[in-house]
Amino acid sequence: MKGVVLAGGLGSRLAPLTNITNKHLLPVYNKPMIYYPIQTLVNAGIQDVIIVTGGNSSGDFLRLLKNGKEFGLRRLNYAYQEGEGGIADALSYAEDFCEGESMCVVLGDNIIENNIVEFANSFRKNPEGSRILLKEVPDPERFGVPVFDGDNIIKIEEKPKEPKSKYAVIGIYIFDHTVFDKIGKLSPSQRGELEVTDLNNMYLKDGKLNWSILDGWWTDAGTFDSLQRASSLVAETGANKL
Ligand code: DAU
Repeated sequence: MKGVVLAGGLGSRLAPLTNITNKHLLPVYNKPMIYYPIQTLVNAGIQDVIIVTGGNSSGDFLRLLKNGKEFGLRRLNYAYQEGEGGIADALSYAEDFCEGESMCVVLGDNIIENNIVEFANSFRKNPEGSRILLKEVPDPERFGVPVFDGDNIIKIEEKPKEPKSKYAVIGIYIFDHTVFDKIGKLSPSQRGELEVTDLNNMYLKDGKLNWSILDGWWTDAGTFDSLQRASSLVAETGANKL
């Protein structure tokens, strides 16, 4: 399984911090933000990783991460997303790197307390479709939100005004190789982006979306509040524990 960290976008919700650097290079407690999603992939046994970056200061990723040896990676590649076309658009830049294999995608601003070893292993046993992780949150309207019928997810809604469950779909996904054909069929959403939520809804329609609940805390770090929360959580309890 390949690893993909999506670190494009303009990070405009963190301006002026992001006026001269990339959001994913900002500090979360004692490390640059991008270190955490890379470590999440490494802890899941993934050794080939691509960072899709964009916007400001993309060259600084290379200066910071070099060839990935510090993380024990076998291969670290880089791609550059033109513009800010959304998460699914950013993922399309990883197609050649994935060479027909499945991939674990981690959004560059998502940080977890523990690890996703079980999540990755359950996909390895049944390597088809997509797999998502849910976490109960106090503010689901900020995220992708699953709609349930009993124990089954029937739909995922992106940032619904009136969320139909208290769960967020967190920014860690596993997709099989069919994801790139699916991205080709997406149309931009109202906010002008190719949405990862639409992608997961395509898998859902085919009956090929699996889900589980993440253990331990999870946070994004793309707003002032969540960036501060991320630093506090990492300082208090540590992140990426095995
Ligand atoms: O954090 C989890 C949430 O992330 C999910 O629950 C949502 O379904 C999903 O849409 C996403 O929501 P956000 O609106 O918070 O995503 P944001 O635009 O902040 O982008 C998250 C990361 O994705 C960002 O740190 C870098 C990457 N990204 C984003 C965009 C828009 C790119 O690489 N390229 C892009 O064009």
